[in-house]
Amino acid sequence: MIPLHRKALACAAALVLATFTAAAVEQPARADVALDYNKKLASGINLGNALEAPKEGDWGVVLQPEYFPLIKAAGFSHVRVPVSWSTHSALTAPYTIDPSFFERIDWVIKQSRSNGLKVVLNMHHYEEFEADPMAHSERFVRMWQQIAEHFRSANNDLSFEFYNEPAKNIDAAKWNAIFAQTLKIVRASNPHRFIVVGPVNWNSIDQLDTLDLPDDKHLIVTVHYYSPQQFTHQGASWMGAESRKWLGTKWTGSAPEISQMTADFDKAGQWGELHHRPMYLGEFGAYEKADMDSRVLWTKAVRAQAKQHNFSDAYWEFCSGFGAYDPVSKHWREPLLDALKVSAK
Ligand code: GLC
Repeated sequence: MIPLHRKALACAAALVLATFTAAAVEQPARADVALDYNKKLASGINLGNALEAPKEGDWGVVLQPEYFPLIKAAGFSHVRVPVSWSTHSALTAPYTIDPSFFERIDWVIKQSRSNGLKVVLNMHHYEEFEADPMAHSERFVRMWQQIAEHFRSANNDLSFEFYNEPAKNIDAAKWNAIFAQTLKIVRASNPHRFIVVGPVNWNSIDQLDTLDLPDDKHLIVTVHYYSPQQFTHQGASWMGAESRKWLGTKWTGSAPEISQMTADFDKAGQWGELHHRPMYLGEFGAYEKADMDSRVLWTKAVRAQAKQHNFSDAYWEFCSGFGAYDPVSKHWREPLLDALKVSAK
């Protein structure tokens, strides 16, 4: 992103006038408030495999109070909280969200806030919506209406991300329309809440050009980065049998590897500059089946790219299969944590 442009104070009246005129012409429609917020979002970590499971604990992670101070002490500024709202909401109108689930999310936000961590709260894994977006768009919007009204008084440490990795049958036209409709409803109760939005095809950099965003200054655009997938997702069961063949793939930071990564981030960075939108790398990580040396090198390189382009970022994820933290030994995996810290400088 282009750094904030600061004009020198002009003394002569004519110069002042000229400066104002130039500013009026040159000043991009850049969402400066969102740009500032994005700087504060800085670097975070995803509390993955907990609340985005059908029920918390189904995928082996139940969030613990001690996680929040640990994350803060390690230097992270925010947590991204993936949430499966659709498995806690009624199937028929008005699609009421279970009040006890709201209490659990309230607890997560309270723990985050009392430890000085911002929160990006999303909706994750609404599978029926991905299969048939139009049939589920009303439920989708009504769930967000409830979430927005529930958190209407929260300060701006909390931001919303309407949907993680829109994909499958959510094409760009449908996603643009559903996003705009949801934003309108959410803005009725949360006029200034920062909203994170990413393109289709799993928040792919290659699909940024298909995003058609409303004129709203409180938007932050997100992309995810797991490239090359044969390396980051080797042996990942949810990628299908194919991923077993990728086992043993290394990432060494060779010149072609670095140049591909640089080209990807340059593309995302240029899109952000052209469209005057702050950029958030909401997920990046390499699964535990890859060797640790490669994971560290890759993580460091991605993090450096994010910083170089002034993206905020969030590592995927805290304490599960990609985990920077080992919940059994109760220690950070130091080489990974170090990779996240070192390249942040
Ligand atoms: C996406 C998926 C999540 C997965 C991660 C890494 O966020 O929604 O379930 O673990 O990417 O593949």
